Amino acid sequence: MATFSPPIRQMNPYLPFGDHRSGPFYGRDILSVGQFSRQDLDYIFGVAHEMREMVERVGTFDLLKGKILANLFYEPSTRTSSSFTSAMERLGGSVIPINEVRYSSVSKGESLPDTVRTLECYVDVIVLRHPEVGASAMAARYARKPIINAGDGVGEHPTQALLDLFTILAELRQVDGLTVTMLGDLKYGRTVHSLARLLSLYQVRLNYVSPDLLRMPREIIDELGQKSVAQAEFTSLDEALPESDVLYVTRVQKERFEDEALYESVKGAFVITPETLTKAKDEMIVMHPLPRVGEISLEVDDDPRAAYFRQMEYGLYVRMALLALVLGKA
Ligand code: NCD
Repeated sequence: MATFSPPIRQMNPYLPFGDHRSGPFYGRDILSVGQFSRQDLDYIFGVAHEMREMVERVGTFDLLKGKILANLFYEPSTRTSSSFTSAMERLGGSVIPINEVRYSSVSKGESLPDTVRTLECYVDVIVLRHPEVGASAMAARYARKPIINAGDGVGEHPTQALLDLFTILAELRQVDGLTVTMLGDLKYGRTVHSLARLLSLYQVRLNYVSPDLLRMPREIIDELGQKSVAQAEFTSLDEALPESDVLYVTRVQKERFEDEALYESVKGAFVITPETLTKAKDEMIVMHPLPRVGEISLEVDDDPRAAYFRQMEYGLYVRMALLALVLGKA
């Protein structure tokens, strides 16, 4: 897995002389959860909380009026792209959607650096999803405007991890002391890679439940081990579930498999049903970054512990906060 180098550009060169805008994220890229401290998270979540109140009170307001975002997606997306669009538009800004790169000059062979250097002539911030690990970090090296990593292959998905953590806080009021069980495709799932790393800033116990083939990558377990995070691996949910405060379910990432037969052999490994949850605490939550493809049965949706739809809504507030912060308006 590629390591993420810090952005070369710390200051936005477009900052007019004498402009008073400041703040820890102004003009910065969001590339990896490794860039955040707990203090940063408190700050981001404070802004996200304000965004929630504003959305509930007035729906849309003009904080980012006149600002433009490019949504540059080289991989499919429903939630991430539309929540960034909604976030920008609820803040009064506008969006250039490039969801189908095959209709853009990418299909003519344009390189990622050239595409981002083109888009930044027209926009103030670029949200990028790309199949290659490290693509956002690479784009950020060329772009002068902020790049927000919306998923780089099997690497990271930092804005998802931020909204996941915001969800845990909103639902369970604290993170320290919790046991978080991650289930499913821990090998290819970028959301769990980012979330595990982000949770290492807290006093948590992490359980990894997966088929042997889809275990959490060794380098992540080692990285967190060095930070003394309590971690345990399982191939069955039975032992981990009763003690879990958060059950974070993931989809088996079909598109990452070279061998279809191998995918078929693990795709139905875990299915959460109402019966499964009879062994879980009353005060716990079930999360999922979505889309789900059978890992959680539809009957679970009515259980108050099913937090995955609320999780999507929290994502709007977190992405509104991130946009306002990198554009210096929070
Ligand atoms: C996730 C992703 O793209 O990594 N989706 C999302 O952003 N909510 C999870 C997935 O595709 O399984």
